[in-house]
Amino acid sequence: MIGHRPHLSVNDEGHLEIGGVDAVGLAETYKTPLYVTDEERVRTRYREVCAAFSRSGYDVRVKYACKANTSLAVLRILRQEGAGADVLSEGELRAALHVGFRPEDIIFTGNNKSDEELLLALESGVVINLDSLHELERLKELCAKRRFKARVSFRINPAVSPKTHPHLATGLKESKFGIQQGEALEAYRAAAEDRHLLVEGIHMHIGSQILDPEVYEEAATRLMETVCSLKEELGIDLGFIDVGGGFGIRYSEGDRYVSIKEFADAIFAAIDRAVEKRRLKKPAIFIEPGRYIVGDSTILLVKVNTVKETPYRKFIGVDAGFNTLARPLLYNAYHEVVVANRMKERPKEVVTIAGNVCESGDILACDRSLPAVSEGDILAFLDTGAYGFIMASQYNFRPRPAVVLVRGGVDMVIRDRESFEDLIEKERIPEELKS
Ligand code: LLP
Repeated sequence: MIGHRPHLSVNDEGHLEIGGVDAVGLAETYKTPLYVTDEERVRTRYREVCAAFSRSGYDVRVKYACKANTSLAVLRILRQEGAGADVLSEGELRAALHVGFRPEDIIFTGNNKSDEELLLALESGVVINLDSLHELERLKELCAKRRFKARVSFRINPAVSPKTHPHLATGLKESKFGIQQGEALEAYRAAAEDRHLLVEGIHMHIGSQILDPEVYEEAATRLMETVCSLKEELGIDLGFIDVGGGFGIRYSEGDRYVSIKEFADAIFAAIDRAVEKRRLKKPAIFIEPGRYIVGDSTILLVKVNTVKETPYRKFIGVDAGFNTLARPLLYNAYHEVVVANRMKERPKEVVTIAGNVCESGDILACDRSLPAVSEGDILAFLDTGAYGFIMASQYNFRPRPAVVLVRGGVDMVIRDRESFEDLIEKERIPEELKS
């Protein structure tokens, strides 16, 4: 077990293992950079979430946030587990349907949806989570023109401030997401009056990588105020309350440990209070975890190309950069790094791990204590299952890596490594330029 990660271990050769498979062997077989996902870990975390949120009298549904990891195999695993899906684009919606999610288990959220996206959502019959009064008007027009019935909810901005990276806070009063609480009555009244719309629920999502359960209680309390006024002033009984995702995980041993149960308890404290006080019928509760389910299931294996000492720092240059793992650059995110082929050696020096993208900002990890690292060693970045591969790009004209799934001690490719041909496949040199 590496830290708190039961699916990672060290074998007799001193190699890192994931799900019982030698990570160094995987790097040799499939080359690097390589993402490796442990199937059992995804399943375990999903079940943990279900157990933590199960409450008597409440129908709780997990809508996996597909944006965290949209690998079809991962989606399929979660579908098999019984999850629903939270999607935000045509691609995600099609991917979810493709692997077998039922339309009635899908919620489509997005802060500005195109007409094409709205139409696809209408045709598919998923819940459309509206983000503004303007979007409501557009949807009404589309429904009237095409004679569709739409199942809708509204995303409410509860105006709370979670302690997370500023780019990951989505429910601040000045955020671009959702309608303001003060607009809710007008929005729901307009939706309820339209014969093409079926008002089904209400939604919030306050941010991501949140490690403070109290902020959920505060936000859910505000959301429930809106739920109550919809009931009391408009007579609307909502079928579901979606409290979003964002439950944080421990990237470093120093991160605060918050169990998923603590998040569930905080949210239910607010919901129960309102349900009891206002004698509401217990609604279905939706949650949209992404990171919590897939975050620690995956490692990124990279190879050391060069070791460079300067008077200021020792750089370990690896064969991946922010094109492969964007989080350190984008959010100053911390990912634990281990030397996969020297797991039994003690830390010897403090090094900085430099990516191979031609930009100064491309540092994947700063000032890490590692065993003496040499060229050819394999490093593993841990906890890269959420927003890892899916945020990778082809910047610097490098193909995106392969993804391998480890399943009961056996490894299998779930996404091929891209090739140079993939890089140029969509490129066209106009005839005019050919002479
Ligand atoms: N629901 C909605 C409406 C969302 O926008 C998100 C994430 C989630 C659920 C799932 O949040 P989670 O449980 O995974 O925290 N790229 C960033 C994270 C961006 C999150 C965007 N929305 C990162 O690498 O940390």
